[in-house]
Amino acid sequence: MKIEPALPADVAEIAAIYGHHVIHGTATYELDPPDEADMAARLAKVSAAGWPWLVARDEASGAVMGYAYATQFRDRAAYRFACEDSIYIHPDWQGRGLGKILLTALLDACEAAGFRQIYAVIGGAEPASIALHAALGFEHCGALRGSGRKHGRWLDTAFMQRALGPGDTTPPPEEPH
Ligand SMILES: CC(C)(COP(=O)(O)OP(=O)(O)OC[C@H]1O[C@@H](n2cnc3c(N)ncnc32)[C@H](O)[C@@H]1OP(=O)(O)O)[C@@H](O)C(=O)NCCC(=O)NCCS
Repeated sequence: MKIEPALPADVAEIAAIYGHHVIHGTATYELDPPDEADMAARLAKVSAAGWPWLVARDEASGAVMGYAYATQFRDRAAYRFACEDSIYIHPDWQGRGLGKILLTALLDACEAAGFRQIYAVIGGAEPASIALHAALGFEHCGALRGSGRKHGRWLDTAFMQRALGPGDTTPPPEEPH
């Protein structure tokens, strides 16, 4: 297995993995899986912004086993050093350590992209996602009760965060010390 930047040719497999989790899980509050064109537009937008989008690829077959990417947390300019991660593992590979490897690589890529904080916005307060983020040093920083409605139940959203690099202990390079 190797971790590398996602390619446009990976979009069909990425869309299939995400579609599975849209239909069966609560990590995302989308109710209908986006089609491949929509997913291609999402990858293009992330890539154009210079944000990381990584895949875990089976070296022998080339198959995508999971993917993770980061986007600026919210659009307003003062959020430019804060990002949010998204990570989805192929159902055949869940619970086998891949999430930890992929998210570790994403944290490095986010720091290299200049982000100072990373947030996980965890739909349905999914235990596997909370465990994954906690294992990599994220701490709980809030929750939204009853913020989602999916599969006939109300969903709480858990927020976790982790500093990247010096975090908020030094100004960003763009500002003189
Ligand atoms: C959440 C997800 C990304 C985790 O990736 P993964 O490869 O399954 O997780 P890993 O095997 O790397 O395990 C990471 C940690 O989570 C724990 N974990 C994994 N599955 C778990 C589960 N179902 N319940 C509780 N803990 C779980 C592991 O024990 C491990 O913790 P540890 O290091 O303290 O032992 C993956 O399961 C997934 O794609 N889930 C559906 C989509 C999703 O929730 N995405 C997150 C969006 S914010």
